[in-house]
Amino acid sequence: MSRWLGFEGKTVFVMGGTSGINLGIAEAFAEQGANLMVASRSQEKVDAAVEKLAAFGHQAFGFSADARDVEAIEAGLKSQAEHFESIDVMIVGQAGNFPAPALAMSANAFKSVVDIDLLGTFNTVKAASPYFAKGDMRLIAISAPQSILPMPMQAHVCAAKAGVDMLTRVLAMELGHQGVRCNGIIPGPIDDTEGMARLAPSEEAREHCRRSVPLERLGTKRDIANCAMFLASPLADYISGAIIPVDGGWSLGGAALAALGAGR
Ligand code: HXC
Ligand code: NAP
Repeated sequence: MSRWLGFEGKTVFVMGGTSGINLGIAEAFAEQGANLMVASRSQEKVDAAVEKLAAFGHQAFGFSADARDVEAIEAGLKSQAEHFESIDVMIVGQAGNFPAPALAMSANAFKSVVDIDLLGTFNTVKAASPYFAKGDMRLIAISAPQSILPMPMQAHVCAAKAGVDMLTRVLAMELGHQGVRCNGIIPGPIDDTEGMARLAPSEEAREHCRRSVPLERLGTKRDIANCAMFLASPLADYISGAIIPVDGGWSLGGAALAALGAGR
């Protein structure tokens, strides 16, 4: 892809950017000439991601922090301050997930996911806000279909991601006057990810999932990265407060499609 999106020399910060979909997003921005800062809990994963991102030939750096700990994020950002002046684009994508019936979960299990996904998003935005590029800053929260579709075994994730969507919309209202555009992406079932390994661990479950997508394929990390680049680019200059499904139509009611075998 030619570099016409204007990301050369921009600083992109990806919380949870050390694996899966979020690392795919980081790689896409690096490919477009951006400098990348990534963070997650594991220093080992941070180091590996930084090495991968540096291979694109631009600055890549990062720090380890738990998104549940706002002070750790603040300290991590401070530790990297020599590498960047301001943050131009921020992706907040850390998440936790495991399938469990609502009432079989301990209170701490429910809280863990809400804290990682929702509180972690608030904490990341709060800690990074002093570094927001003045007058032209783009924030993208990574949500999930669970934010709009109630799913059994996913009470914690549904509650957390619905909160993430609403936080995104409120931030769009509060920060718009500072030139901060805030949007969300709802990825559908994305192939070759930890999320799919946890929720559709068997070949049969994967196939059922694939058949429930109107476009009849699982998504790729690049599908999500493309939307993130669009939202962060000048092409989306008048888009704020939008939560965009990138899911091949899955959130229209894919379960029904699979169950009825509609159209096949
Ligand atoms: C029930 C569980 C559980 C399980 C953990 N717990 N796994 N309860 N069923 N399978 C409980 C624990 O017993 C504990 O409660 C509490 O949750 C916290 O567990 P810890 O292991 O101490 O937490 P922590 O080390 O903070 O790890 C967080 C985690 C873990 C969410 C549990 O799985 C994690 O680190 N996940 C990050 C990676 C991830 O999930 N990626 C997928 C994102 S995909 P007690 O009461 O015992 O203390 C996604 C959407 C996919 O979000 C959508 C696809 C369509
Ligand atoms: P993943 O590879 O497990 O990515 C999660 C990332 O978040 C990792 O970098 C992880 O690194 C980090 N992380 C987890 N807990 C954290 C914490 N407490 N603090 C800081 N970082 C933390 O999962 P994925 O499947 O690619 O999912 C990525 C995003 O897409 C998530 O927001 C998820 O909800 C969303 N999504 C995924 C799918 C899918 O099909 N996979 C579908 C819809 C939505 P550490 O372990 O080092 O912390």
